[in-house]
Amino acid sequence: MAEAPHAWVERLRGRFVVFDGPDGSGKSTQFKRFADLVAKAGVEVCQVREPGGTMVGERVRQVLLDNDLHDQITLRCEMLLFMASRAQLVAERVRPALARGELVLADRFISSTLAYQGAAGGLPVEEIRAVGQVALGDHWPDLVVVFDVDEQTAASRLNPLLDRMEMKGRDYHRAVRQGYLDQAAIDPDHYLVVDARDDAETVFDRLVTQLASRFRP
Ligand code: TYD
Repeated sequence: MAEAPHAWVERLRGRFVVFDGPDGSGKSTQFKRFADLVAKAGVEVCQVREPGGTMVGERVRQVLLDNDLHDQITLRCEMLLFMASRAQLVAERVRPALARGELVLADRFISSTLAYQGAAGGLPVEEIRAVGQVALGDHWPDLVVVFDVDEQTAASRLNPLLDRMEMKGRDYHRAVRQGYLDQAAIDPDHYLVVDARDDAETVFDRLVTQLASRFRP
């Protein structure tokens, strides 16, 4: 019997995969499509998003994305709030799902903090990693998929009603992008960069091809 086209998806059981990238990279669209593909292939998938994903985390999210608090939250406080929400997410959702053998698929994770509060914001990467170790324990992702786009393409995809995180300027977004690319360059075993400049269909095909070659037996 011929092997099913997505037989490699079986290898995602019990793995922890993150989809990440700059605002406007289209990662959330790809996330939904990929979660569907996995579910159709018969692999249980636990989908989580950051910041949020738990009741406590959603409250933290409201604080983080509130325009009224724009000038008040310090960078370090912001980083710790993201990480606090993440610690809750790991304990409540990620760890139990991995223990059940599900694929955990996360929309953003610590790679976002390293790019936004680290590379773009200026907090030392080692500091973020140290706090991450406290928040995550042994539950670091197996793979971080980075959807890479230039700023012009990203800007053209963003809604004009921008939230606090998205209102920061061009240089900030350039640094965010570079922050992701640097993470991937330093740790290629745990990162996969997908060129996300094209339309959603093309990017999805590219994503599946790249993932298949990463997870092929
Ligand atoms: P959200 O509306 O969830 O955007 P998206 O759909 O792009 O994920 O907003 C999340 C914003 O928070 C986004 O601009 C990235 C930012 N962010 C950080 O700065 N640090 C982090 O650790 C995380 C998880 C997100």
